[in-house]
Amino acid sequence: MIKLKIAVIIGSTRIGRFADHPAKWIAGLAASRAEFEVEVLDLLDYPMSFLGQASATEAQTETAELWKKKLREFDGYIFTVAEYNHAPTAVLKNAIDLGDFIHKPVAFVGYGGVGGARAVEHLRLIFVEMSAASVKTGVHISFPEYLSILKDGKSLNDYAHLVEAAKNQLDQLAWWGRALKAARAV
Ligand SMILES: Cc1cc2nc3c(=O)[nH]c(=O)nc-3n(C[C@H](O)[C@H](O)[C@H](O)COP(=O)(O)O)c2cc1C
Repeated sequence: MIKLKIAVIIGSTRIGRFADHPAKWIAGLAASRAEFEVEVLDLLDYPMSFLGQASATEAQTETAELWKKKLREFDGYIFTVAEYNHAPTAVLKNAIDLGDFIHKPVAFVGYGGVGGARAVEHLRLIFVEMSAASVKTGVHISFPEYLSILKDGKSLNDYAHLVEAAKNQLDQLAWWGRALKAARAV
């Protein structure tokens, strides 16, 4: 079986971020499946300039080029999505603008007051413009689960509805991943 290379992209670089919890969790679930080879991409490791920024340093511009090149290795992407003022984080939007996701599937694990739903819906629209295929099922970690992870040491695996949503999302990512990989090869 040809494995699909999947990137889990951590969409927040904030100090003390929650993002590591969903990133580790969804990467673990994806990696446990035979059809995927999974790599976590942390935007902290890619301190990039903004797209076309005049004052960018050489190092920032080089990192942006590295990021763009790195993204091309993958057959699909899962984003952890923090919601800042009802939208995705600026750092994630910039990383997306710098990339290329044409004819590849994307999936979202959101969190926040309403499970990051508003930020995820923004991203779905953005990825239509980028000719990516957004899989139907989002994973939405709402405030009670978010708090229980931080304060009571619970795991995302303790929530059957999240595990179920993740399974469905990964099933869809595999289907679209295979279909679009074959189509890209023609
Ligand atoms: C600038 C800012 C704006 C925020 N706006 C929202 C919001 O619109 N909706 C929401 O549910 N949570 C909002 N939050 C709370 C975040 O969901 C929460 O801080 C979450 O942990 C952010 O993800 P991170 O910790 O991975 O950066 C906001 C947080 C910040 C820092």
